Amino acid sequence: MTEAIRVVVTGAAGQIAYSLLYMIARGEVFGKDQPLILHLLDIPPMAGVLEGVVMELADCALPLLQEVIPTTDPKVAFKDVSAAFLVGAMPRKEGMERKDLLSANVKIFKVQGQALNEFAKKDVKVLVVGNPANTNALVCANYAPSIPKENFSAMTRLDQNRATSQIAAKLGVPIAAVSNIIIWGNHSSTQYPDAGQGKVFINDVWKSVTEVLNDTSFLQGPFIDIVQKRGAAVIASRKMSSAMSAAKSACDHMHDWWNGTAPGKFVSMGVFSDGSYGTPKDVVFSFPVEIKNKQWKIVQGLTIDGFSKSKLDITGNELREERDEALSVLESN
Ligand code: NAI
Repeated sequence: MTEAIRVVVTGAAGQIAYSLLYMIARGEVFGKDQPLILHLLDIPPMAGVLEGVVMELADCALPLLQEVIPTTDPKVAFKDVSAAFLVGAMPRKEGMERKDLLSANVKIFKVQGQALNEFAKKDVKVLVVGNPANTNALVCANYAPSIPKENFSAMTRLDQNRATSQIAAKLGVPIAAVSNIIIWGNHSSTQYPDAGQGKVFINDVWKSVTEVLNDTSFLQGPFIDIVQKRGAAVIASRKMSSAMSAAKSACDHMHDWWNGTAPGKFVSMGVFSDGSYGTPKDVVFSFPVEIKNKQWKIVQGLTIDGFSKSKLDITGNELREERDEALSVLESN
């Protein structure tokens, strides 16, 4: 039998983890033949809740799940893990300034970066979901110098899934008939959802979304707005944030990183920028990537028109500012 891999989920007593743990333990990320040992990390006040999650995982009677290790100690949580879903973060409280939120999270991700550095496998794949996800991933990587920077990523797959779903609905085609919709930049309201490279499968051929739709004003207006504000719309309606769809997207992200993307297909991931497409270097920026042998590569050679360039600049500037604020917090600590 294949040897089990260790996978950590932080924020394991929270909403997203409640859906995510089940999906991972069912084999939807690492495969139906890959046994797992799940490490669940949360903070001490949540230890009781964590016990309940452990009971439920046992009661699911999942054949791939060899062991569950609940803990409030990062040293235990990150020991020998091959994959890390960093979901836990400090939520924004009423009256909290952006800087205070960033400051609280920078400290969490510094500690987790240090623990990854010391205890995780050197080829661990790290997906940061907790917000501000891009900058948290940057901080985490900076404190884990023994792990390659390429192994750290931030989640924009939920935004990609939302965007793909909007395009499929607009075209009246099944979701699987739409591909290569891109999210550029930050997982925030400055993100740029871009259907310009999108493909749609109609009458047995892949065609350009922009040509088939022929509606630039929609693609440059309501489409971007809907995707940027979708999280707020879910909160307004459900009175809680998107957890099921966030969990599914975290699985999609890690699944594709682990297993690769099909030829010609690309997905969006927040990764270390090398300056491609004129973006700022050394921020975690969401790009279209292709993945082979567990290594992502930024898709090159895409045409960026003036409209897209201005959108990339806005979100790139925000990421630069976030990075600088995070660094100033770290320096003053
Ligand atoms: P939640 O509040 O239900 O759960 C968060 C959990 O993290 C709590 O159990 C909390 O105790 C725990 N936590 C806090 N600090 C921790 C630490 N230092 N170590 C370990 N655990 C810690 O929140 P939910 O809905 O599960 O969301 C989690 C995060 O994901 C939030 O930051 C949210 O903004 C973010 N998010 C990101 C998305 C993305 O697309 N990148 C989409 C949706 C949510």
